[in-house]
Amino acid sequence: MSVNLLVDILMPKLSDTLHLDMLKDASKNKNASLYGLHWGDPNKNMNLKFIRDNYLYRYLNPEHTALEIGPGGGRWTRYLLSFDKVYVVDYHQELLDELERNFSVPHLHAIKNNGTDFPGIENNSIDFIFSFGVFVHLDREIIDDYLRNMKSILKQGGNIVIQYSDKTKKLAQANPGFSVNNPTMMRKMVLSHGYTILEENLTILKHSSIMRFTLPST
Ligand SMILES: C[S@@+](CC[C@H](N)C(=O)[O-])C[C@H]1O[C@@H](n2cnc3c(N)ncnc32)[C@H](O)[C@@H]1O
Repeated sequence: MSVNLLVDILMPKLSDTLHLDMLKDASKNKNASLYGLHWGDPNKNMNLKFIRDNYLYRYLNPEHTALEIGPGGGRWTRYLLSFDKVYVVDYHQELLDELERNFSVPHLHAIKNNGTDFPGIENNSIDFIFSFGVFVHLDREIIDDYLRNMKSILKQGGNIVIQYSDKTKKLAQANPGFSVNNPTMMRKMVLSHGYTILEENLTILKHSSIMRFTLPST
């Protein structure tokens, strides 16, 4: 079997039930307050706290609009609620239902998407895009489509923060649910869409890396 075929078979697909299975497993734990905290609570875990403070809190603005891709139970969404308006898009309605159980506020708008798109979101309307725990599972084609689609909804000067799988790290290599990606590949994809990379952290997370980028002014 060729390496490419093997990679294709192992790569998580949109139709994969990974996220529904994880939600089902977590629902057996009746004590969990919010789905996703078992991956680490940014209020308690120092590394996640660093991500929250440096890659999310810095961009909070009560006059701006934010969008989160793949909110799950709202582990990070809860920190975005100080924005004027928050959109969340998720491929799985079940996960959006889970989010709604935890948060029901009028300025939070949940949208079921088709895996890479932003249905109903106006062009040039988003100041801040955030995604954590999602792109680590997405294959290159899906990441590429998302990067293309984010360009039209992002306002000039807006920030995009994405955490992605970093297979240069042992913990990512050991996790078959993590997609084939690394800082070199991610930079290449991001730059190929005309974005400017503003900031990267390659060390704080043990299985992934994080990047902040924007669209250069025209
Ligand atoms: C592992 S959970 C992470 C949830 C949350 N971001 C967190 O860190 O706790 C992945 C989330 O991404 C969603 N998801 C998976 N593939 C997606 C895609 N192509 N587009 C949008 N959301 C997706 C899942 O349904 C789930 O809500």
